[in-house]
Amino acid sequence: MTELKAGSGLRITMISLHGLIRAQNAELGRDADTGGQVKYVLELAAELARHPEVSQVELLTRQICDDRVGQDYAQLEEPIAENAKIVRIPFGPKRYLRKEALWPYMEAFVDQTLSYFRRAGLPHLIHGHYADGGYGGAQLARLLRLPFVFTGHSLGRVKKQRLLDQDSEAENLEETYRFTTRAEAEEMAIETASLIVTSTSQEVQQQYEVYEAYMPERMEVIPPGVDLTEFHPPVAGEPAPPIADALTPFLKDPNKPMILTVARPDDRKNLEALVRVYGESPELQERANLVMVMGTRDDLRELAVGQRRVLLKVLTLIDVYNLYGKAAYPKTHVPADVPALYGLATSSRGVFVNPALTEPFGLTLLEAAACGLPLVATSDGGPRDIIANCQNGLLIDPLDQEAIERALLRTLTEPGQWAKWSENGITGTREHYSWKRHADRYLRDVIEIVEAAAEPELDEGRKRRRMPDFDRLIITDLDNTLTGDSEALAEFSDLLRAHADHVGFGIATGRRIDDARQLIEELGLPTPDLLSTSVGTELRYGEKLTPDLSWEKQIAFQWKPVEVRKVLADVEGIYPQSDKEQSQFKVSYKIDPQVAPKLGKIKRILRETGLRVKAVLSLEIYLDIIPVRGGDELSIRHLLYKWGLNPEQVLVAGDSGNDEGMLKGRTLGVVVGNYSSELEKLRKLPRIYFAEATHARGIIEGVNYYNFLDHIAIPNDRID
Ligand code: GLC
Ligand code: MG
Repeated sequence: MTELKAGSGLRITMISLHGLIRAQNAELGRDADTGGQVKYVLELAAELARHPEVSQVELLTRQICDDRVGQDYAQLEEPIAENAKIVRIPFGPKRYLRKEALWPYMEAFVDQTLSYFRRAGLPHLIHGHYADGGYGGAQLARLLRLPFVFTGHSLGRVKKQRLLDQDSEAENLEETYRFTTRAEAEEMAIETASLIVTSTSQEVQQQYEVYEAYMPERMEVIPPGVDLTEFHPPVAGEPAPPIADALTPFLKDPNKPMILTVARPDDRKNLEALVRVYGESPELQERANLVMVMGTRDDLRELAVGQRRVLLKVLTLIDVYNLYGKAAYPKTHVPADVPALYGLATSSRGVFVNPALTEPFGLTLLEAAACGLPLVATSDGGPRDIIANCQNGLLIDPLDQEAIERALLRTLTEPGQWAKWSENGITGTREHYSWKRHADRYLRDVIEIVEAAAEPELDEGRKRRRMPDFDRLIITDLDNTLTGDSEALAEFSDLLRAHADHVGFGIATGRRIDDARQLIEELGLPTPDLLSTSVGTELRYGEKLTPDLSWEKQIAFQWKPVEVRKVLADVEGIYPQSDKEQSQFKVSYKIDPQVAPKLGKIKRILRETGLRVKAVLSLEIYLDIIPVRGGDELSIRHLLYKWGLNPEQVLVAGDSGNDEGMLKGRTLGVVVGNYSSELEKLRKLPRIYFAEATHARGIIEGVNYYNFLDHIAIPNDRID
């Protein structure tokens, strides 16, 4: 049991990795990755830090050093409020990346965060946001045995289905959105979480339900709050805000009521339909102006393709319907303009409209409501809950243009109803959607979870290493890395023996345990301190090389070897290896590269039959299928953590595809000169040294490169 000592207070780590997060003037809407979630995590962090039970909230995000986005995102720490701060963890390339490009660096994130925790101490709780933060957080929570909370924000499987419904090509979707990786990460997060925070009840019923690890009893609907100090009804007599000036060039009669929408230019927001509704309704045009705030743009031509496409369609329709003088679409705005806009729209007796095809939550709706603006919104997750709670407007079917027109006209022509909706929005948001209320409910659940949790692992006293007392470790592959040059191998063995007092030795191989052991003996190698066999699916260590059963239990998730065999039986050019190569968590084949489909295609075949596995190709001819949670990238990390080693203290060496996993991450990598083509792509990564020399001589070259036996140096720490 973790006793929360009176006065010591809860320390919470939030993880939100993608997009641009800064505490001051958050650039919401700047791009597709910097939207509602960024705002959510900042406000949640600030509110939690205000509570007496909480001593500190740290929001971990990625450090970005990139002139295109500015210096702010390069600062390592930035205060949000008292007891709350942003901590930026460097991982992956320095430059800004879209969220789908972060996946290859997640292991590096975990390593870096472990080092951060070693310096800063452990939190009581990790809370991951979205698939990336969820995956990283779940991984950390497992390693550290800390309780974990997950908020998905939006889920990959649901998004994929929606895009497929709109006739997108499944293959292109995978390329652009990395849905398989994302859904895998989400499964991992859901399975690990003690609590899943959702914003609406629909999210629980229709979205999480398509996930295997779905467990409704661990889910809580705790809607986010609105910042009520910022979003409030307009104060009579105040001067017009600056954003009013940005509208005047567009509008012939700026005093008409506003039909206001605030949304990123994204297909899902269905903005085109709104222009159509307005463009085809003389009555709406007569009664109101259409004001569309669609993010900000410097140069339309430089926007991301998706955004540009939507904006061009909108602008085209404005021209087609000749809405000049009636429709406004300001080019830029700052965050403070948004509440001002809602205020203006309320004063004009206007309406907020959200015609999105789906709206999981829709924070803008709450903000508009808190300012007294009635809502016309899509009948989906967020708006349904909001309008049910607040009774402040009408739900519409986003595909029914007439219904949208009718609803808008109602708000514009029934002043009594307008006043009631406006008032209800102001009181309803205060009652149901304050951050204070969110934090109260959150902390009630979370404190219970933390108090029931076991003592975490990384405490000061975590020196009970069951291992011989070495301060660094060399882990190498066997075939073609250690073997292939017997003279060099003998030299390497001597080197290990000479430094055995402080350098540990590990083997990671595709071979089975029995096979590996025999070879180690034949080669006259020292007895390893650790053995990862069958491509990172079995782990042994300690004096007697005892198997780590907890590891095997962890990876058993979703493992269906019989079905793997069945699916691959019909694929041309793929032949099962002999029985003695097969093991509990590894199904192995030899492939004929002339005949067999490419690795990508094989992966797709497996995925399309619903199997969740990793497919690993080595030396272009060996194909291993292993559990999705297996592999050396995870097994080695699991172990280093157990032993309390930093990645900087570990050198890993390999030659082919089954070594890729362990070479990634923050350990010091060495690829021997005789490497096979699967590893070519690692050249782009830092901390991977491509040796000139081959086989064991390549390892020795790498040991020298990092000065590994003495004061370790990392010349290739960053690559850009
Ligand atoms: C070893 C194993 C074989 C595996 C290959 C690649 O040769 O014996 O089963 O396919 O490594 O990982
Ligand atoms: Mg090898």
